[in-house]
Formats: sequence, structure tokens, C-alpha cells
Amino acid sequence: MKVSFKLNGKNVVIDVNPNEVLLDTLRLKLGVKSVKRGCERGECGVCTVLMNGKPVYSCMVLTPQADGAEIETVEYLQGKEEVKALIDSFVKHGAIQCGYCTPGFIVTAYALIKAKQNGLTKEDVIKGLEGNLCRCTGYKKILEAVINALNQLET
Ligand code: FES
Ligand code: FES
Repeated sequence: MKVSFKLNGKNVVIDVNPNEVLLDTLRLKLGVKSVKRGCERGECGVCTVLMNGKPVYSCMVLTPQADGAEIETVEYLQGKEEVKALIDSFVKHGAIQCGYCTPGFIVTAYALIKAKQNGLTKEDVIKGLEGNLCRCTGYKKILEAVINALNQLET
């Protein structure tokens, strides 16, 4: 079946199987490699993308459900001021080790910042990121990086 959506600002029309997940369409057919494959059951967050501005696990979205939607990934979002601040802060705070989880964290943190730019508390950030797992960093540095980016954006 044919599905069309906007991917990173460009219209895409693509043939997919009705049971194909967005993760596979993005990675295997459209070459979007920032979207990582992890648990494939909605638990780890490495496949997170924005769908109509909201973070979703692309392994849990059937591609036909994305018909007409706007999908954004780090490849596109990295041009935004908030994402630049997040990336700089992740590097500065050593919040990246293997880096496998990083695109998912950046997408989720960006959505958090956009949803509630002023007045995000540390608790909001902890809660907002709880759907993204990292096997390397122990989370403390990721948390510091996001809060630091937030502080910079607010000043
Ligand atoms: S691969 Fe999608 S949530 Fe883990
Ligand atoms: S930096 Fe390796 S999984 Fe997070």
C-alpha cells in the first residue's frame, strides 16, 4: 500500500506492507540512520522520532498510521537552536559514551523543551526522559546536560 508523509521537511510517498513499522521504513527504506533499533517493543526509546511534534517510539507505529503525518528526526532537528544547545551540552557534560541512545534522548528532550520551555523543573526532566534507556552513562550526566541546555536557552 502507498503511504505519504512529510519526513524532515520533504514529502515522501512510499510503498509499505500494512504491518510494517515506521522504524523499518525509516532505517531500511529511507536511510534515516539516527533512528536506532533496540528492544523493538516500546521499552528503550532508541527509536524515538517526532510525529506531529510529539515523541513516539517508531518501533510501535505502523507506517500506515503515519499517513499524512509530519515525521522529524535528529538529522533535521539538529538545525534548531534547542537541539544545537542540547548536543553541545551532551558533549560538554560527557553525556555520551557509545552514543547509541543519544538521538532518542535528544528528540525526547527537544520535545520536552518545546512543550514547556519556561518552568521545566528537574523533576519534569527526570519524568520526561524516563522512557529512554541508556546502558552506559548512569543517567546523571544526561540529566545534567539537559538541565544545562535548558538553563542556557532560558537566559
Ligand atoms: S526500539 Fe523502539 S522502544 Fe526500543
Ligand atoms: S551512551 Fe551508550 S547506551 Fe547511552
